[in-house]
Amino acid sequence: MSAWKLGIIGGSGLYALDGLENLREERVTTPWGQPSAPLVHATLKGVELVFLSRHDLGHKIPPSDINYRANIDALKRAGVTDVLSLSACGSLREDLPPGAFMVVDQYVDRTFAREKSFFGTGCVAHVSMARPVCSRLSAMAGAAARAAGVETVADRGTYLAMEGPQFSTKAESHLYRAWGMDVIGMTNMPEAKLAREAELPYASVAMVTDYDCWRDDLAEVNVTDVLAILKSNVVRAQELVRHMTSAMAGAKREPCPDGIETVLDFALITAPE
Ligand code: ADE
Repeated sequence: MSAWKLGIIGGSGLYALDGLENLREERVTTPWGQPSAPLVHATLKGVELVFLSRHDLGHKIPPSDINYRANIDALKRAGVTDVLSLSACGSLREDLPPGAFMVVDQYVDRTFAREKSFFGTGCVAHVSMARPVCSRLSAMAGAAARAAGVETVADRGTYLAMEGPQFSTKAESHLYRAWGMDVIGMTNMPEAKLAREAELPYASVAMVTDYDCWRDDLAEVNVTDVLAILKSNVVRAQELVRHMTSAMAGAKREPCPDGIETVLDFALITAPE
């Protein structure tokens, strides 16, 4: 009944979710190379899901080396209708403590060492990124986070994407706060841009693991603390996916209200030969 097919980019813990049926792993390749990991297909309440582990099993791929083009292309070719991104982030706001989930509605992209487009010489396109996420999918993600029992859920906010792999300096952390950024992470860009070029509605839930390094009263972000919070996030992220899937099972999918599935109709600039 439901024509939703949800692609989920996140950690491998997500598909240990109870109740998944028809689990099947598929190794794929794309014209852009190998995605981060095999696709894991499953159904939940009759809704088709396709999981992709962004850093591969055992977190082997650093943010700068993720083949974002292959990841998005693999999901597109798998026929997903929508993409949900789940990722860890640092908080730049006192009222977003570790454990909080923020549904991203804007980005500032400070990454600089990644392939960011499917287009280039010979075929030029400029898609709009003014509204970088799908409003419908984002609203569903926020509702699902609340239904999953997440105590602090922010329905919007700006995600600063940094290159990494090192964390920020204090000067950078203060600068981003002064810019009005809400969270900081290393993985949502160029993922969101490529999803838009692929005409895939995209929503992102940034899961706060730390206060980065701007607070002088707390220890600066470190991997041990990030991993501890990430571990405690797995079950809540799974529950979020379960609730999102339930909402999809109960509602026939209509075309994306933001027109994301047709953005290329207005974005290609190269004259046809
Ligand atoms: N991912 C989790 N915490 C982060 C931080 N403080 N900065 C960048 N990426 C992160």
